[in-house]
Parts: sequence; structure tokens; C-alpha cells
Amino acid sequence: MATPKDTVWPLDPHTQAKHLIISEYLKAWYPICAGGQFKEFTYAEGFAGPGVYVGEEPGSPVVALDVFLRRRELLRPGQHLNVLLIEERGDRLEELRRQVDRKFDEYGGRPSQLTVTFRKGECTTALLPTLQKLTPRRSPFFAVLDGWGGPDAIPLDIARSAANRPGGEVLVTFQPQHLVRFATTENGAQAGDRCFGSDDWRAAVDQPKKMKKKFLVDCYRNSLFKAGFRYAASFEMRDEKKNELHLVFASNHLKGLTKMKEAMWKVDKQHGVRFRDPRDPDQLEFYFEEKPELSPLRRALLNKLEEGPGEVSELREFALCETVYRDVHAGMVLKDLLKVGTIESSTGKRVPRKQDRVWLTKKEPTPPPLSPEPLF
Ligand SMILES: C[S@@+](CC[C@H](N)C(=O)[O-])C[C@H]1O[C@@H](n2cnc3c(N)ncnc32)[C@H](O)[C@@H]1O
Repeated sequence: MATPKDTVWPLDPHTQAKHLIISEYLKAWYPICAGGQFKEFTYAEGFAGPGVYVGEEPGSPVVALDVFLRRRELLRPGQHLNVLLIEERGDRLEELRRQVDRKFDEYGGRPSQLTVTFRKGECTTALLPTLQKLTPRRSPFFAVLDGWGGPDAIPLDIARSAANRPGGEVLVTFQPQHLVRFATTENGAQAGDRCFGSDDWRAAVDQPKKMKKKFLVDCYRNSLFKAGFRYAASFEMRDEKKNELHLVFASNHLKGLTKMKEAMWKVDKQHGVRFRDPRDPDQLEFYFEEKPELSPLRRALLNKLEEGPGEVSELREFALCETVYRDVHAGMVLKDLLKVGTIESSTGKRVPRKQDRVWLTKKEPTPPPLSPEPLF
């Protein structure tokens, strides 16, 4: 999709799917933060947009506010939720303010414990200083960095700051074609170094065409680990018009990743968006469905078991962290593999429990083919 010039533009299917993911994730994130010991927590968008689309559909900041306002009673006395919205274009920021006011009106006004801060400016230079002023203390911070194009507009410093806060998390989106292009042009080099936190990514130029995207995604994931995150998951969405959107989520908590995967898998066939694991160049696109296509996960788990026996909980975590699948999907695959005798478990039970160990069933070595009887 060409970059829109107007203040608002039409909503495309993958943006709609992304909004569903954000909304579903926040439905878990917000009660967890509000129920925790923190007096303050922050939801930030570095590329907020105008808050509305041509067809009056809400933009992501308004989607987020709706989740918070719907359950505003969760904020305890003395607790504060900051919403920080950065947008570089004045006309879009003005529209965003209008949309946010409308949302507050819909819920009978702004609760005193929820503050929205608008900043006109570049995400790169505006987000961290504003955050620092708002919440100098170390409080949870979830940043949605949903720019257009490649991740070159998103310096790793933002991820570093999130990773170093308790409960800090980021969701970064970009269009993969920009990611590859930006790696192959010299102009993007310095922005690239800031985005990846080193120049390792530049070796993408030497990769075969098919592997470039995977290489860059792996590099970016490693950058997020170096920034201090313990977990990072990436996935790619493609709509019927072949528009692609790449999403990377990073967190320090397995629960965060579990909730993000649950949110992702809510985007089913009806949304017209297929998913793909960008780290597996041979994998086909597929729809997320109630009865999902689990053969890629089955292959991945069997490869993992080739290395030796594993605990079911480790294999579930492997599925969660290293594939597009959820941990429950790993449980389903292992149950099937036990049923058909491909693997065995330490308890001999048919339903694998988290603490059980499983391994590949030893096959009798195939006897060498019989040598043909000599004719003479
Ligand atoms: C993809 S749109 C965001 C859409 C919004 N997150 C949503 O889902 O409704 C990107 C927005 O970021 C703004 N933008 C682009 N580059 C920016 C930058 N460097 N800093 C801040 N905003 C930027 C654009 O004007 C545009 O409104």
C-alpha cells in the first residue's frame, strides 16, 4: 500500500487484524497491571495516527482507550494510567484529539486516574524524553511502535528503555519489503545501525534472496534480546491483496508472550488475513482457525526431539517462543504423537502432563536388503 497523504485513509484488513490483536492483548495487560502493586503504568504509541479511518473505524489509540474505559473501575484509588500518543503530523494529531474526546464523552468523561498526553513530534526524539517526564519512576510500559515502512524510524533505545522497566513490553510493526530494501541500500545504513543496535544486520546483503527476510528478522530478534528482553516473537500477516505486515513482540514475561499469542490467534479466517512464520522461509501461509493446521509445529517438535528427550513444559515453551504457535498447540501435537506411537513418555500415559519427559520411539533398525540369490 502506498503511504497515505490525507489526514485519514481507508482501513485495510491487516490493520483491522492488528487492532483486534492490540485490543485482545490489552484486555489481558490492563487488568494485570491494574491488579499489580504498581501505582502507575503507561501505554504509549510512537506513531499514533489520526485515531480514525475513512469509514469511521477507530484507530489504534482509540481501540486501546475503549479497553481501558470499558473497565475503568479496575484503577484503584491512587493508581494512574498514562496514555502517551506521539504523532508527527499536526493535522492527524488534531483529529486524534477530537477522536479521544469523543471516546471520553461516550463513557461520560475522562476518569481522573487516566491521563492522555499528546505530543506532536518524531517518535525517535519525542517518545523517550516525554516518557521520562511523565513517569521518571520505573513503572510498567507497553509501547506500540506502528510506523510505516521499515523499522529504521525506531531506534533500539526505545526497546532498551522498555526492557529495563518492570513489565516493559513493545510491539513493533513494519512492512517486510521495506525491511529488505532498507538493508540493501547504503542510505539506510546509519538508521539501520541505530535500529539494530549494531551493524550485524548489514550482512543481509550477502544472503540469498529467499533468506534475507529471515536473516533480518533473526537479527532484529537478537537485538531485542541484547536490549534486555527475555522473550521475542515475530509473525507476518498477509491480506488478500497481498499487503504484508510484520509484527514483533518482546517481553520479559512468559505470561506476556502467552497472552500476545492468544490475542494473535483470535484473528481467524473471517478476518481475511493469513499468517506466516517469517523465520521459516519454507512455511506456507495459513489461517488461524479453531482447528489449526499443526503440521509445521509437528515438524519443528520432531526436529527438536531428534536432539534428545525433552520435558513437555520445555517443548510447550519452545512452541510459544520459537514458532507462531501457542503452547497449547504443542500439547495437542504431543498428545497425537503419543497416540500413534511416534514418541513415548516417562509416565506411559496417553495425555502428556507438563512435567513428563518424552522422547522419540526407537525404531528397529531396518535390515539391509537381502542380496539376490546368485543365478549360477
Ligand atoms: C501506520 S500509521 C499509524 C496507525 C495507527 N497506529 C493505527 O493503527 O490506527 C503511522 C502514523 O505515524 C505517523 N508517523 C510517521 N512517521 C513518524 C515519525 N517518525 N514519528 C511520529 N509519527 C510518525 C504518520 O503520520 C501516521 O499517522
